Amino acid sequence: MGKILVTGGAGYIGSHTCVELLSSGYEVVVVDNLENSSKKAIERVESISGKNLDLVIGDIRDEKILDKIFMNQMVDSVIHFAGYKAVGESVEFPLKYYENNVSGTILLLEKMKEYNVKNIVFSSSATVYGDPHEVPIKEGFPLKPYNPYGKTKRMVEMILEDLYESDKSWNIALLRYFNPVGAHESGLIGEDPRGIPNNLTPYITQVAVGKLKKLSVFGNDYPTKDGTGVRDFIHVKDLALGHVRAIEKIMEKPGLFCVNLGTGKGYSVLEVLKAFEKACKKEIPYSIEPRRPGDIAKCYADTNYAKEFLKWEAMFGIEKMAEDAWNWQKNNPDGYGDN
Ligand code: NAD
Ligand code: UD1
Repeated sequence: MGKILVTGGAGYIGSHTCVELLSSGYEVVVVDNLENSSKKAIERVESISGKNLDLVIGDIRDEKILDKIFMNQMVDSVIHFAGYKAVGESVEFPLKYYENNVSGTILLLEKMKEYNVKNIVFSSSATVYGDPHEVPIKEGFPLKPYNPYGKTKRMVEMILEDLYESDKSWNIALLRYFNPVGAHESGLIGEDPRGIPNNLTPYITQVAVGKLKKLSVFGNDYPTKDGTGVRDFIHVKDLALGHVRAIEKIMEKPGLFCVNLGTGKGYSVLEVLKAFEKACKKEIPYSIEPRRPGDIAKCYADTNYAKEFLKWEAMFGIEKMAEDAWNWQKNNPDGYGDN
């Protein structure tokens, strides 16, 4: 088994994926500039898995860093997580997003080509579907991202599609994640957002732990079961295992493929809130507020292709996601503590 370069491996999804890669016997080298993460995540990945990885603290936009890695390590595949992910910020600072997410990826791909490393798993997002005409969402649905963040994801997918057309010796996995939540069951690694969280579940756990006063539920007049937004929440461990499967698949030299990583189930904001109240054993105060601009009513995956092609399926339900997210939050009220 070759060595996997994980860009952004200290981040939320990256750190959980490193645990599963190490546990499956892969050697791992991480490159991360720690701009949105902590070195402690890597130390804890090592303690959970009982194995070491190589950490290179540096930026994927730095040619010298990439040269050093590809020259000195026998990398045969790359899992590319590094990038920015805040939708609101991408609207305010689009150039920052295009520069890191698109230009950063282009440099990484140029270096991969130079060193003849032609296997890549890319972190895309369900956001590339925009507001879908129906649910569940199949991989072949129209792609119409409507914010700069979502556009960077689609642009990179297009770049990878063209790269593959030009040279069929590449193997490329485009993984479209739905809404990752939860944490490793050890409670040692989890999501550690900087500042006030934008996403639902970190917001809920911070209310439960007493750091925030109450949850604002953004809209209860959507055409959904209870009027609140419906999403496909997926346990981060399931997502991490999806990457291990994608790497195994890439070893079979499949060319380019694109799969949804979701559970196929939609939960409403109020259902998620209830699941977290159960996990925390406390009531979580909330109020109904106006819709958040840019939000859609319903988003969940059709998972048939992932099952058939990748032989991968999510195992965990919302209860386990809530339990593990809460376990992480209560053991680490300030996350890694170095934000
Ligand atoms: P994260 O911010 O926790 O992880 C990203 C990591 O990349 C961080 O550790 C950050 O320090 C690092 N990084 C950013 N730019 C870098 C650069 N130029 N060089 C080196 N390191 C850099 O985010 P995450 O939630 O783990 O997401 C990982 C990937 O998955 C991202 O590409 C994101 O867009 C994508 N994604 C995330 C979600 C989600 O809800 N979390 C959903 C769909 C897709
Ligand atoms: C958001 C991003 C998406 C990204 C995903 C995961 C937008 C428009 N989309 O998706 O691109 O891939 O995060 O990082 O930002 N909610 C509340 N109160 C809150 C927070 C959220 O009611 O305080 C509701 C939202 O209205 C939504 C649901 O909870 O209905 C989920 O929200 P969130 O966790 O932010 O994820 P998405 O909006 O699905």
